[in-house]
Amino acid sequence: MSTLAAAVEVRGASKWFGAHKVLDEVDLTVCPGHVTVIIGPSGAGKSTLLRAINHLEKLDAGRVTVNGVLIGVREHGTRLKELSERAILAQRAEIGFVFQAFNLFPHLTVLENVAAAPVATGRATKTEARERALELLAQVGLAEKAEAYPGQLSGGQQQRVAIARALALRPGVVLFDEPTSALDPELVGEVLAAIRALAGGGTTLVIVTHEIGFAREAADRVVFMDAGRIVEEGPPGEVLDRPRHPRTREFLSKVL
Ligand SMILES: Nc1ncnc2c1ncn2[C@@H]1O[C@H](COP(=O)(O)OP(=O)(O)OP(=O)(O)O)[C@@H](O)[C@H]1O
Ligand SMILES: [Mg+2]
Repeated sequence: MSTLAAAVEVRGASKWFGAHKVLDEVDLTVCPGHVTVIIGPSGAGKSTLLRAINHLEKLDAGRVTVNGVLIGVREHGTRLKELSERAILAQRAEIGFVFQAFNLFPHLTVLENVAAAPVATGRATKTEARERALELLAQVGLAEKAEAYPGQLSGGQQQRVAIARALALRPGVVLFDEPTSALDPELVGEVLAAIRALAGGGTTLVIVTHEIGFAREAADRVVFMDAGRIVEEGPPGEVLDRPRHPRTREFLSKVL
């Protein structure tokens, strides 16, 4: 693929849960190095779309490419065929994912949590992985917590460890699903600051969040989803301040 390839390209993505079409022919293009914030009401399909990008959800129709590579499937004549679990796991190394619940390993130290995947996947020696983990922990302001266990950290600190962990495999794209919504309000700022620092470093980020202020300040593009569709998207100054669609206006009037 040329270097102009989109970092993430979603084409015609549709997904049903039973009779409910939760993704309805979604098209999304994310440029390399851009920060894309996805907003929308509960049940809009935001998490499903994010999970489809790294094939945690299988699409019923459509396709996803990350840096030009088809995700989760390969072309087999005119059909798409599911890749092996092993191949899917290899692809996921290129795509970091930060969840609402941090999901750290409680029995491993902070440093071990961050260093685990690069060692387990054979991408780094133990020494290299620990060095990189320390750098990442310093980047999220937690170098002094390297030897602590997750249970000894605040929620905001745990989420910053989860962010460092998501970066350990040097992914080209990092996806965040409501990274601050499980946190006490006074801890939200430190996590958003860590994400903002990443954005400045040129990593491609796709972030589902209800933090509209953060979206306004950090996003290159804001995508508004409702009922499985992308209703409106554009620069934050347009979508958030001059929304064209009545559904966007209605949603923003409730959350702003
Ligand atoms: N595993 C599942 N089985 C059945 N229905 C599901 C499943 N996962 C999600 N859904 C439904 O799909 C729709 C979209 O869910 P999704 O989690 O993507 O929404 P969301 O926009 O992330 O909402 P929220 O803001 O509440 O997180 C919802 O109606 C949800 O109930
Ligand atoms: Mg969700």
